[in-house]
Amino acid sequence: MIKKDLVSILDIRNDFSEIVNMGLKFKRSRYQTSPLVEGRSMGMIFEKSSTRTRVSLETAMYQLGGNALYLNPSDMQMGRGETVEDTSRVLSGMLDIITYRAFSHENVVKLAKYSSVPVINALDNQEHPLQMIADFMTIAEKKGEFQGKKFSYVGDGNNMVNSLVLTCAMTGMDISIGTPKNHMPDQSFIEKAKKIARETGSTVTLTDKPGEAVESADIIYTDVWVSMGEEKQREEKEKDLRPFQVNSELVKNAKKDYIFMHCLPAHRGLEVTDEVADSINSVIFQEAENRLHSAKAAIVYLLSN
Ligand code: CP
Ligand code: NVA
Repeated sequence: MIKKDLVSILDIRNDFSEIVNMGLKFKRSRYQTSPLVEGRSMGMIFEKSSTRTRVSLETAMYQLGGNALYLNPSDMQMGRGETVEDTSRVLSGMLDIITYRAFSHENVVKLAKYSSVPVINALDNQEHPLQMIADFMTIAEKKGEFQGKKFSYVGDGNNMVNSLVLTCAMTGMDISIGTPKNHMPDQSFIEKAKKIARETGSTVTLTDKPGEAVESADIIYTDVWVSMGEEKQREEKEKDLRPFQVNSELVKNAKKDYIFMHCLPAHRGLEVTDEVADSINSVIFQEAENRLHSAKAAIVYLLSN
């Protein structure tokens, strides 16, 4: 049996809709255990802070009948120089699944390469695939079909937008990205997404005009301007991204029934105002709750392979 990992959202491209539907099913039967998870253990290495990802993964394992171990690298031998390769071989001899929130994407790839059990990327500098399952569950709940909807991302061209542009292209949603010219997303992700979009009949557009990005949008999405690990760029980013704040004025360009999304944590008053985050259009807490149900879907999917 070949083990499956979730390092990039593209790893689950063919099964993405099935996993989203599985998440929606878990939501309807919250305390249902899974024979695939009962008695299994998940190791969770977190190099960076987390509220949603940690709590959703730990709770998902518990509710499904397994258990989870939170592993802080500074308490592990990894923090004293044990290599990622050796850590991976040791942990996969004892655990059934490993999640890793890392500063470096290369380390997540390495952990997966040397592990004999599935590895989940719990966010790195390039992607946040777990968040995509919860986000698209939320869109399915609020908007139904993905195909033909307009998804607008406004803000920093970061790890979130890399995963979002790929997922929109995979699901046939048109995505319009509004970022300042000096904070555009990684071009290699845009190219990959454009190629997929050609196959699914959707579009990927980039602009440095926030009003244009959200024109007639069904979904407006933003994320923090300063991601974890980028603290040195705070002053520059907060200045450059100011015109990209999602506020009452900007959202006037969207469709009346648009939904506002954010992976959270939100920095209110910066990338989004209270008025938008707490508006009737905002689905941020539904989106956050869906992290639990989507975590279950990801775990069961990977353990069933
Ligand atoms: N959205 C998200 O991953 O949140 P945390 O950083 O709290 O896990
Ligand atoms: N872009 C953010 C997402 C946090 C969930 C970060 O990497 O810090």
